[in-house]
Amino acid sequence: MVKLIGSPIVIIAIIIVLMVSFSFFFLTESEEFGPVFIQEPDDVIFPLDSDEKKVVMHCEARGNPPPTYSWYINGTEVDAEADYRYSFIDGNLIITNASEVTDYGKYQCKAENSFGTVLSRDGTLQFAYLGAFSGKARGGVSVREGQGVVLMCTPPPHSPGKKIIYSWVFNEFPSFVAEDSRRFISQDTGNLYISKVQPSDVGSYICLVKNTVTNARVLSPPTPLTLKTDGVMGEYEPKIEVHFPTSVLAAKGVTVRLECFALGNPVPTITWRKINGNIPKKARLRKSQAVLEIPNIQLEDSGTYECKAENPRGGTAFKGHLQVYTLPQWVRMINDTQMDSGEKLQWECKATGRPRPTYRWLRNGLPLTSQGRMEIVNGELSIHKVQQADSGMYQCVAENKYGAVYSNAELKILASAPVFIPNPIRVIATLGKDVSLECKPRASPKPRIAWKRGDRRIQPNKRIMLLRNNTLRIVNASRADEGNYVCRAENQLGSAELTAILSFVLPEAMRVELTPARVEVTVGESVVLSCKATHDTSLDVAFQWFFNQKPINFQQDGGHFEYIQTVRVRQSSTVDLMIRSILLKHAGKYGCRAQTSADTVFTEAELLVRGPPGPPGVVIVEEITDTTATLSWTRGLDNHSPISTYNVQARSPFSLGWQTVKTDPVTGDMESAIAVELNPWVEYEFRVVATNAIGTGDPSAPSRAVRTKEAVPSVAPANVSGGNGRRHELVISWEPVSEEFQNGEGFGYIVAFRANGTRGWKEKMVTSADSTTYKYRDETFPPLTPFEVKVGVYNNKGDGPFSSVVVIHSAEGEPREAPSDVRAYSISSSEIRVTWKGYEVSYWKDMEQEESGKKQRTVKNETSMVLTGLEGNSLYRITVKAFNSIGHGPATAAVTAKTRKTPPAQPPANLIWIQEGNNVSLSWDPVKAKDNESDVIGYMVSSLPFTAVTLAHFCTYIIEVRALSEGGDGAVSSQIRLVTSSGTLFFSL
Ligand SMILES: *[C@@H]1O[C@H](CO)[C@@H](O)[C@H](O)[C@H]1NC(C)=O
Ligand SMILES: *[C@@H]1O[C@H](CO)[C@@H](O)[C@H](O)[C@H]1NC(C)=O
Repeated sequence: MVKLIGSPIVIIAIIIVLMVSFSFFFLTESEEFGPVFIQEPDDVIFPLDSDEKKVVMHCEARGNPPPTYSWYINGTEVDAEADYRYSFIDGNLIITNASEVTDYGKYQCKAENSFGTVLSRDGTLQFAYLGAFSGKARGGVSVREGQGVVLMCTPPPHSPGKKIIYSWVFNEFPSFVAEDSRRFISQDTGNLYISKVQPSDVGSYICLVKNTVTNARVLSPPTPLTLKTDGVMGEYEPKIEVHFPTSVLAAKGVTVRLECFALGNPVPTITWRKINGNIPKKARLRKSQAVLEIPNIQLEDSGTYECKAENPRGGTAFKGHLQVYTLPQWVRMINDTQMDSGEKLQWECKATGRPRPTYRWLRNGLPLTSQGRMEIVNGELSIHKVQQADSGMYQCVAENKYGAVYSNAELKILASAPVFIPNPIRVIATLGKDVSLECKPRASPKPRIAWKRGDRRIQPNKRIMLLRNNTLRIVNASRADEGNYVCRAENQLGSAELTAILSFVLPEAMRVELTPARVEVTVGESVVLSCKATHDTSLDVAFQWFFNQKPINFQQDGGHFEYIQTVRVRQSSTVDLMIRSILLKHAGKYGCRAQTSADTVFTEAELLVRGPPGPPGVVIVEEITDTTATLSWTRGLDNHSPISTYNVQARSPFSLGWQTVKTDPVTGDMESAIAVELNPWVEYEFRVVATNAIGTGDPSAPSRAVRTKEAVPSVAPANVSGGNGRRHELVISWEPVSEEFQNGEGFGYIVAFRANGTRGWKEKMVTSADSTTYKYRDETFPPLTPFEVKVGVYNNKGDGPFSSVVVIHSAEGEPREAPSDVRAYSISSSEIRVTWKGYEVSYWKDMEQEESGKKQRTVKNETSMVLTGLEGNSLYRITVKAFNSIGHGPATAAVTAKTRKTPPAQPPANLIWIQEGNNVSLSWDPVKAKDNESDVIGYMVSSLPFTAVTLAHFCTYIIEVRALSEGGDGAVSSQIRLVTSSGTLFFSL
């Protein structure tokens, strides 16, 4: 706030501002209040085996002065002096070397300051642990086949019971007993039940106990299960061996598991029902029906549940009651309350819960009972005529046997002598109007009020009234009312007086002027409106700006508006409103309101915004031909600048969005136009945009879609070409004409061609608009004949233009001649070499059909190839054809060749060797070729890893022998190993 020229009023105003902000500061920083919990102790499960043997119970409260804390275990205060294991850090209680024996219990924290004391809710400290099984061997269990058996787990000490999981190991870890209709593990006791023992059950059983809090696992000693040999147990009726308790209590929202399992032969089946109702839909049967699991249990799930075990021998049932409880929950809590002494306090708290909660009240942590001015009925507390001594922290506790909830509040009894801030006050009013003088001291208890003028007490009359809220009201004020008025306030604690100095200004003394009163600006420009108020020099004036009668919010309006405070000069004050980057929506009435304590005046200015034209109104297609559309529309807003031209835009399925279409010039005073050069038989939408000196506006809404009339096609196919194809074919192709240019229904192509040098065109119709090729077949013209070709278009309206003429050759012919000089030679028992002059080689066994043979193609013009993968000692027939992209030429006459006989299958046998130094003599039995085998022409001795005979010192040689034949290498002999000391190894055979 900038005030350059002061006056008494201004100074007072500044003082008020300072005091208000000071007292606000005072309130937030230094307001004093009783303790309020931020954190209360939680239930804690402490794993005894954790490394850090320190339990922390948390508690924290706000308060001013800061609260101090103490702790209670089972209701007895913790004395940290007496027991070194306890220490306090802030509000928290830390217990070192915690153990179940000494520390299990309910913990409650107390926070206290000079305004009172509050007790926290209870937090239970529990310990999680799992002892070890005694190592004592367990006696075996011996039963007859068919009998039922229970193997006891007898777990070691453990806690908490609900976090323990039991399973059984069969014979050896990790082989677990699978639960099924015959076998069941109770998660209450850990025992394993087998309803009907089978021989496969014989073995040793180990109970595995796991604590899910500590993750500890322990294994029991094994219990051997054996079968008695004195016979098999006959059938017997079911006996329920595991069942849930007769009375089950569960907290609302938890998952309840009811167990039921029976021994019997045959194995009993278990069924469940709820007496007088249905099993809840959300319930699930687990472990072959032995467990009924009800998730998220609700009050309506309470009731009697029955499980029944049946087998052909009989049946038996068990019933138990499930009861659901809920912890108390607040419906209505108590709140901090301040009151004057002598008033009546009434607090009510209310909670739901099952069983229904009962209520207790505490003041500063101590129980309250009805007595004297205090009355307690359940959740209602009343204190008649409160006194200073009733101040303090109050707690309403709602509890049932499952838990308690606390609602806390502070009662403050106010006590202060009356104070007036500010004082004195100056009131300036307009002559002839009504004036109100307020008297609102801070005081508690409520003070008595009296108004005086000078020394005289004011007697209310028709013109001067004392309202119920202690305000003095003067109707139709006159000069005679000017002067000092005093309001006196008094209570038990003291008194104070407020002086109100009343003065007047003449009516109509204030005027306000807004300039310019009417202004035209263009979109994007800025403007400043100046609001000047002329008023009594003694008055302070406040301004407010309005747009179309609504106060302008300077923060919200996107930075378009700025309030500019200007200087006050004697009797006039001025403020400016800057409107930046004006948009069309900123056009309208701007109001300025000037207000003093005596008067309020208001005036308005009008802002016109020039902008591009608004969208024209409805566009109508009046008439349509094959290439033109006559359109009309209605004028839109000109936004204060005359419309100079209109543009017509069109959109069709073939255009990329909206495109301007050709029209005669359309000036701003016209409201119709003819769009020309449209394509025939195309569906168009039209819209219009208006332009003025400032710019082009938004387009109108599109017209309805209309189709131009049909016309003869006018566009010939592009890129007419062709060639290739099969023998005797002339292939002609082109780019199809898009639907946009088909100009009507029944569109197709006319293909015209003639052999070069001939006269008449042959014409063929192609009736599909999507076709892109035409094939003409005629055996009479030779391959690669040149043709002149052109392609034209037509539709129902008539024929359109032809493309220009191009020359296209007909297809080439296939090779005319077979390769010459084909020969074939046998290479081995599986290979034949074929030679020729010039392609595809076909070959087949003499005994078989040509069609069943195989083909192999040469690369380019190679004139020999090796055929592989053949059968030994077989006659093959072979032909060769030339081929190209069109097809094959004729085949040569078949030539024949016979593969050689296969090499001997018999390896050289009875290898014998004699080694003398580096000399080795080798011998073997000769190989005799069979009739269907090639004759042996020699032998090959190989020594591995090298075939050479000169080798390094001390080497191991692997030596093998095989026969050689025309058909290839024969089978290899068994290997012999030789070690030499040095030098070269010589063979003698
Ligand atoms: C607290 O009370 C419970 C239940 O009566 C008792 O088991 C436990 O030992 C007590 N704890 C202490 C620390 O006295
Ligand atoms: C306490 O305050 C809350 C909200 O401030 C209100 O809903 C509730 O009714 C109050 N309780 C009482 C007893 O006045």
